[in-house]
Amino acid sequence: MDVYGIIGNPVEHSLSPPLHEAAFRELGVNAKFVTFEADPDRIGEAFRGAEALGVDGLTVTLPFKHDAFEFVEPEESVRRVGAVNTIDFTDSGPVGYNTDMTGTLRAFEHHDVTLEGADAVVVGAGGAARALAFGFEEAGADVAIANRTESKAHDLADDVPGATGHGLDELPDLMAEADVVANATSVGLESDESVAPADAWHADLVAFDAVYKPLETTFLGDAKAAGAQTIDGAWMLLFQGVDAFEIWTGEEAPVDAMNEALRSHL
Ligand code: ATR
Repeated sequence: MDVYGIIGNPVEHSLSPPLHEAAFRELGVNAKFVTFEADPDRIGEAFRGAEALGVDGLTVTLPFKHDAFEFVEPEESVRRVGAVNTIDFTDSGPVGYNTDMTGTLRAFEHHDVTLEGADAVVVGAGGAARALAFGFEEAGADVAIANRTESKAHDLADDVPGATGHGLDELPDLMAEADVVANATSVGLESDESVAPADAWHADLVAFDAVYKPLETTFLGDAKAAGAQTIDGAWMLLFQGVDAFEIWTGEEAPVDAMNEALRSHL
């Protein structure tokens, strides 16, 4: 039997187990998906222990995505991001991927949104914003980063080729010219606040929200009311899992079954 899991702290409420178990069930894969709540002071030991125990693959969540980067051989596109959310334990050692990044791009593809040549605004400058900004850049978008603490937007923009950094006060002007706006802040998480002013939305925008609790955020509600296309945070969650599943098993993931399982748990 194969063993996969998610390592983080906390991980108790993770949606990864139902997501992957649905895929195993659908394809008849004989595997278990376990939650590992690791001690942050012993995270190196935890990764080495998982490898020694023969764990086949791990999803890595907060606060260990940077530690994971240090532990693995990072796959090409992950080197610049500096964060790993998926480990594949191979015969030649642990390989690290960032499916937050690649999965989000797949979520956009799934919604027929072209990022190549698009003007994309990422709101936020933390870990989620970093994955989105690198992902959008890799997909060929022109990236602008807007953050409450403007200096952090500039720091992130310095790392992402061609990106520009801005304060939140510039967000309405950026949105007026943009094709895609992504919320990568925690604003809207279990609240009805939005990081974007309601009157800045227009029908030519695509709105993506990394927040998935609630699924229908005010950010997306305002976007929809203005006629914009919306992509909710569950799609990012889904496709980061889909990408991880395909890396681990080499099989095409049963996307519909995984989506159904995920949404029934949200
Ligand atoms: P993660 O790693 O999940 O992205 P994080 O590193 O804590 O989380 O980043 C949170 C992001 O949300 C930051 O960009 C933060 O802005 P600051 O850099 O100014 O702190 C943003 N954020 C959190 N609360 C906010 C608020 N009330 N208004 C605007 N931005 C907010």
